[in-house]
Order: sequence, then C-alpha cells, then structure tokens
Amino acid sequence: MKKSVQNFFESHDFCLESPSNDELLATFDAEMTAGLAGDKSSLAMIPAYVTTDKPVPINTPVLVMDAGGTNLRVAVVWFDNRGLARIEDFKKYPMPGSSGGELDAETFFAKLADALVPLVDRSQSLGFCFSYPTEVTPDCDGRLLRWTKQVRAKQVVGRMVGANLVEAVRERTGRTLSVRLLNDTVATLLAGRSAGVARRHSGQIGFILGTGTNTAYVEHHENIAKLPQLKAGGRMAVNVESGNFGGVPQSDFDKALDKSLPDCGTYRFEKMISGAYLGSLGLKVLQHAAEDGLFSSAAATALLATREITNKDFDDFVDNPFLNGTAFDKVPFTDDDRRTVVEVGTPIFVRAARLAAINIAAAILRDGAGRDPLYPICATIDGSTYYRTRSAQFRSRIEAHLREILQPRGVFFETIAVEDAPIIGAAVAGLTA
Ligand code: BGC
Repeated sequence: MKKSVQNFFESHDFCLESPSNDELLATFDAEMTAGLAGDKSSLAMIPAYVTTDKPVPINTPVLVMDAGGTNLRVAVVWFDNRGLARIEDFKKYPMPGSSGGELDAETFFAKLADALVPLVDRSQSLGFCFSYPTEVTPDCDGRLLRWTKQVRAKQVVGRMVGANLVEAVRERTGRTLSVRLLNDTVATLLAGRSAGVARRHSGQIGFILGTGTNTAYVEHHENIAKLPQLKAGGRMAVNVESGNFGGVPQSDFDKALDKSLPDCGTYRFEKMISGAYLGSLGLKVLQHAAEDGLFSSAAATALLATREITNKDFDDFVDNPFLNGTAFDKVPFTDDDRRTVVEVGTPIFVRAARLAAINIAAAILRDGAGRDPLYPICATIDGSTYYRTRSAQFRSRIEAHLREILQPRGVFFETIAVEDAPIIGAAVAGLTA
C-alpha cells in the first residue's frame, strides 16, 4: 500500500489487522455465551424453536413467504419422492417498507396478505421466512424486535408478525393459516440439511451476506441458559443476530455512515460488511480521501457533491475503474485518481471479507462439530453480497480466511450454496410443524 494511502487509513482509525482473528473469535464466543444467558450482549442469540432432525413429508404442498431485505417472495413448495424441492407459483414483489415512505402496520400486513391470497387454496400451512430480528415463541410466531436494513414501518415493531399476517389473510379469504416463522439464516441452515447432499455432515450452520448479514447454528438446550425450561438433551437452532456484533471498533468512515442513518448505534457490524451499506460506506471513504487531498481537485469536487452510490456501482468501479455506466460517470477522474479509487476502495472489501469469515468461523467453532474428516461441518451460505461481490476477490478471500482459521484448529468444513435456500428452509419448517 502507498505511504499516503496507509497514512490516510491510519489517521481515520481504519485497520485491516486489528483486532486479530483470535481476539475477534474470543469476543464473538463470549458475546454468544452472554446472549444465551440473557445477559448484556451485542448478540441477541434468539432461540428458534426449530430442530433439524425431523423428517420432511413428501408430496405435500406448503405455502412459503420469504420477506427479505429487498424482495418479498411467495411460492408453493413440495418435496418429491427423491426429496427434491419443487417450487411452484413463484412471485416476487418489492419488500413493503424497503423503499418509498413510512408504512403503517395495517398497510404493511395488507401488502403481505395480498401476495398470499392467490395461493391459499393450495395449503393451510405457511412457512414464513422473516429476515429481521424477531423474538420467536415456542409455537413459532415472532415479535419484531426492531427493523434492520432501513425498512420503514415503525408500527410493526413489537407486534406478532405471523398472527397479524394470518388475521389479514383471514379477513380477505375466510381461511385461517397455520404459520411457522423463522429467520432466513435458520431457513438457510435447514435448506442445507435437506439439500440431499451425498456427503455426511456432523453439523450445520447458516450464514447470510446479502442486503443484511447474520448467522444461525444449532445449540444444546443446556447451553441456552435463558430458557431453563427446555428439555435437557435436546438441541435447537439459534439465530445469532450477528449483524449487531459489537466487537469491531468503528473507523471514522463507519462513524460517519452510522451517524447519517436513522438507526445510528445499532447493527454496526452489518454496516461494515453487508450490501445495504457497502456503497454508502465506500462513498464516505472516497469523500474523506477527497477532503484529505488524495484526488485531483476536479474529481474531489465531484465526489464531495455525490449524494449516493449503490453497493453495485461502488463494487463494480473499484473492481474495474474504467467501467462506464456507473454513478462515477460524472466524476472527471484522471488515471491517478482511478488508481486512488482502487487503493482506498479495495480495503473496504478486504476488511468485510475477513469479518465475514470471522462470523462464519465463530458459529462453526461454537457448534464444535467437524472434528472427523469423514463428517465435516457444513456451512450453507446465501446472499447476493457473498456471491456477487467482485472486488478484492471477495468470495475466495473469505474462503481463504476460513481455511486459515479453521484448519489449524482441526476443523473439517465444507461451504455449500443451496439455490433458493430461504424458500426451501421455510418450506421445511412449514411442513415439520
Ligand atoms: C437481520 C437478520 C437477518 C439478516 C440477513 C439482518 O439485518 O437483522 O435477522 O438474518 O439481516 O438477512
């Protein structure tokens, strides 16, 4: 790294190596233990009331709704004789509240219900993948704790999401659905189990890096100290809500981004690594660099006047700074400026890759499986940011970190992708109620 760029990052407290992997893993583990005990922790550690060992009925259709950060998807799913998921009547809508103005609760649930109405004749059961921090009840409904990913529908916070949706569907169709709500990371974990992969695994985790980020793993009931009533000897999936992990110090860029958002102070980890934020974070870095004199004055003026950059534009341009058709078209970059974009932009992705790997590794190590090469532990990974980010050889960088962290600790692991994981996992949950 050029000295001027190195000084730039140092002067803004942006560090690629510290805290070290070992320090971060230890903090993650301690925060997980505290969250499971109900003590003060940045990790909510939400018990999902989902076990991973129930057989999935075949040839039985189930309704599925997947409320993600950007899209709302609905479908009817059934598993064929070979255990393969068949997805029918798939439809995609924008996630209510993810763009445009604030929605009231009634409108929010009305939009969800309207998407389901055409499908309700197909099944009475609904698997509902809801990708937000939600406290789950033993009968698998969920109370929204807070919105993340900048969704705007304040009135929904504190409400039972499944029950309100069921009621809105009943008003429209006269039918009462039976709903099982689960987080998308739990759904992804379940999808990995049901994928019918030939290899035998000793454990599963689910990791998402898309608009938001999060992890789920399977925990022994005895370790979920905040629920002493759970039957000893059992295990259930836990939604870590790792996007709120508090163990990584913020740089000036992170602070500037966080301050500009309505939910300032929350989900700081997610704001460092996920698709909803990497573009805005990148713009903060470029603007700080412009203020610090790292760009020509014409480019600096144009960068400082730029209001918004999408994650895709930032990633594509850092990866290829001669690309046309991005928000950077309007900036009069010299070749030196383009070099600076690469030099100050790439570290954002380098840091995100290491932090993503730490997050995955923390869940794998917590599970404790994967000590026998015959039975590796399986990490099912979903999310557009993980698979589509180009800069810093993002995905292979995460995988390299995982090897570097897990191999010396004697852990055998495999990462897999399951197409439509949240939908398949939600179907499994809906069918195994
Ligand atoms: C939410 C999690 C979700 C993750 C990935 C985060 O913003 O808090 O519940 O699993 O995004 O979609």
